[in-house]
Amino acid sequence: MPTKPRILTGDRPSGKLHLGHYVGSLANRVALQDRYECFFIIADLHVLTTKPTREDIAQIPQNIRDLVLDHLAVGIDPEKVTFYVQSAVKEIFQINLIFEMLVTVPRLARLPSIKDMARNANIDEEQLPFGLLGYPVLQAGDILMPRANLVPVGKDNEAHVEITREIARRFNYLYGEVFPEPEALVPDVGTLPGTDGQGKMSKSANNAIYLSDEAPTVAQKVRGMYTDPARIRADIPGKVEGNPVFAYHDAFNPNLEEVNDLKERYRTGRVGDVEVKKKLLAAIEAFLEPIRERRARYAATPTLVDEIIHTGNQRTRAVAQETVAMMEEAMGMGYFA
Ligand code: TRP
Repeated sequence: MPTKPRILTGDRPSGKLHLGHYVGSLANRVALQDRYECFFIIADLHVLTTKPTREDIAQIPQNIRDLVLDHLAVGIDPEKVTFYVQSAVKEIFQINLIFEMLVTVPRLARLPSIKDMARNANIDEEQLPFGLLGYPVLQAGDILMPRANLVPVGKDNEAHVEITREIARRFNYLYGEVFPEPEALVPDVGTLPGTDGQGKMSKSANNAIYLSDEAPTVAQKVRGMYTDPARIRADIPGKVEGNPVFAYHDAFNPNLEEVNDLKERYRTGRVGDVEVKKKLLAAIEAFLEPIRERRARYAATPTLVDEIIHTGNQRTRAVAQETVAMMEEAMGMGYFA
């Protein structure tokens, strides 16, 4: 049987996942898990590029457990996907160092993503850590370590996959064919707006509905959602485009007929916000309820998530050791080891 092509994707462990993560990446991951051999990295070393203190690090273990449980809750099958913690697979430090020789400083310094991450972390140019400049190099190590073919990422990470391809080409050119040139897979879904209608859903903006929110919390968040502010009465024609309430209907309400009817009546001033939000809440709850059930089922075995991570780390180490051996062989290194 031919082996399946490999996927490497993942996240920094920085908190619980929300509906925006579902739309932007989780839905796609669930759909891909059967057709590919999947490795999901939990990129804790990348967290250190902007959050290196002991207090920052103390948050990481719980964030890792939350991240894995959120994945299981939405239907990622731990039998199909290998989760691993980046810092637990030491070969990544080694691969990263070799790759640092294969990319130039100006190439990295030009990337808008580095400046964005620095700005978001309140780091000014003079204080830019060497490790943050090297963020994409470490990510290239993550991707090439299992010799991945496909990398599902958000638009903001597309340039990092491009750097990865350049590094793979450079390595292969200098030392011989070791790495495939991985392709980025960027979903063409728009980003989900926050409940406040101001930009995308994010933890820092405090405008998120979490996959782990209980029903009363979700109800409260939906009731308080931003909608067309010009519409002070139900008989005033409202705006559907750019209205987050309708963006969520589009994303989570499978009843197209109902959605189209609501939009039509909203545009012509024949429906109240209360009805639109009530139907939205019902749709979101129908989406979240099976997720809660799966979460409860997995959480009933308290050691399960840790076991999944330990097993995944082990499986990944074996693959990483293979890759390092191939690299050293190609490079003529490994002498006196
Ligand atoms: N850079 C990703 C993020 O924005 C996390 C990440 C680290 C990653 N290594 C990766 C994603 C490898 C895909 C592949 O959080």
